[in-house]
Amino acid sequence: MKFSVTAVPISQSKARLRVVGIFRKRKLSAAAASLDEALDGALSSTLKAGESDGDADSTLLIPAAAKGMPGTVLLGLGPRKEYNAKRARKACRAIARVLTERPGDSAALAIAELVPPDHDPGWLVHTLVAALGDAAYRFNHYKGKEEVPPVRLQHIDLHVNEDQLEDARQACLESEAILAGSNHARDLGNTPPNDLYPEALAESALDLAKQYRKLKATVLDEKALEELGANAILAVGRGSERPPRLVALDYRGAGKDEAPIVLVGKGITFDTGGISLKPGEAMDEMKYDMCGAATVLGVMKAVAELKLRLNVVGVVTSAENMPDGRASRPGDIIKTLSGQTVEILNTDAEGRLVLCDALTWVERFKPRAVIDIATLTGACIIALGHQTSAVLGNDADLIDALKKAGTASHDRAWELPLWDEYQEQLKSNFADMANIGGRPAGTITAACFLARYAENYPWAHLDIAGVAWKSGKEKGATGRPVPLLMRYLLDQAAAK
Ligand code: BES
Ligand code: MN
Ligand code: ZN
Repeated sequence: MKFSVTAVPISQSKARLRVVGIFRKRKLSAAAASLDEALDGALSSTLKAGESDGDADSTLLIPAAAKGMPGTVLLGLGPRKEYNAKRARKACRAIARVLTERPGDSAALAIAELVPPDHDPGWLVHTLVAALGDAAYRFNHYKGKEEVPPVRLQHIDLHVNEDQLEDARQACLESEAILAGSNHARDLGNTPPNDLYPEALAESALDLAKQYRKLKATVLDEKALEELGANAILAVGRGSERPPRLVALDYRGAGKDEAPIVLVGKGITFDTGGISLKPGEAMDEMKYDMCGAATVLGVMKAVAELKLRLNVVGVVTSAENMPDGRASRPGDIIKTLSGQTVEILNTDAEGRLVLCDALTWVERFKPRAVIDIATLTGACIIALGHQTSAVLGNDADLIDALKKAGTASHDRAWELPLWDEYQEQLKSNFADMANIGGRPAGTITAACFLARYAENYPWAHLDIAGVAWKSGKEKGATGRPVPLLMRYLLDQAAAK
């Protein structure tokens, strides 16, 4: 799908389908009125016939008058006075639904009046492109014949007013890159775990580095990890035939001297729990335990695509958590890369182990900020459900910037406290700490564990266990939180 922004009136569009908004009580938007004129009153007579009264989220297709002519979709926006961001988001989803179900390969959307009060045209473009991208996403590589019809829509023209042009154009570039990054993350997440194991994940990072020359890749294999002393990563991978990997993609879009923002993604390509084996139900979904890593790779793709003037390092810490004769046991004590020792009381709390060594390793980049992204705790789903990521960290400004970016991109994050008192739950009788903190506040104690390895830089942690994928009939990766992180990075680049 390719988007473009234009200030030409929609009545002049040659696209197969034109979409215009109408407000409640059949009030044509300005674009709809001008289109109505061009169509000799076809829109207003349809409305007069009572076919639609502009109720929110309704769509009405007025077929083309003749072969080769464009059809029109009247998009109900509800009462003009009540029109707001929430309505606008719903309208975008309604547009996405109609357009991806139609056979036409091109569409024109009049969006000037879809911009809600207190929002800029760019916001609407981002919302619309994300909605269309989501509706058009397919993961069919493993199916013999396609059950869901492919989306024909290829070209989408966004019609705006002259004064909205610049903002909308910029947002269009950004949102297309974000969409490409999200889709990349979704593809990686959905790929089955027999095909996506740590080496394959590292390979896909190398592919990105080949595609974008600005990305410099470093891959540490199990031998390099041993020499380094990354024993926590190695301990998690020990039960698998597929050895672990630590990967960095280094992007320098600003001067060499500028401290980078470092992203660290949990890349457990399958989490059986290890010797502390998980129950069987829905265990297939633990292929999504690498969605933090997928997010990092998706973000790096978008960053490189947009040539952001920022230094960003994307790190993926990857292992497969399997039970085996060589696997780590509950009771094992390991010495992490930081020198701190950990008593592994539950081998299913493996995410924090692969992350802790990575958090120590990234000190070498002298980061301005470090953000880790991980499907870390089932407790996060209990606390916050599937709407929001959890954010915790040691730096209020960083946390606030992430929350703000989450709100702006509607890929939200909600803060949980990281008070010292919770650290007590990680006490071990035999090592510097245990890798679990008991049932209460599981998301917080997991972050407390990470905090002990992130003391030397501003750090935030995103627990994405509830948002990274959907279960049930719609099972699949969501690409979250690529939009949140991209908004954050774009904000950072703009603040310079
Ligand atoms: N990957 C899981 C967390 C998870 C579980 C995310 C279900 C999404 C859905 C993680 O490695 C894990 O198993 N965590 C344990 C920690 C516990 C042993 C302290 C959990 O949440 O049960
Ligand atoms: Mn686990
Ligand atoms: Zn896990």
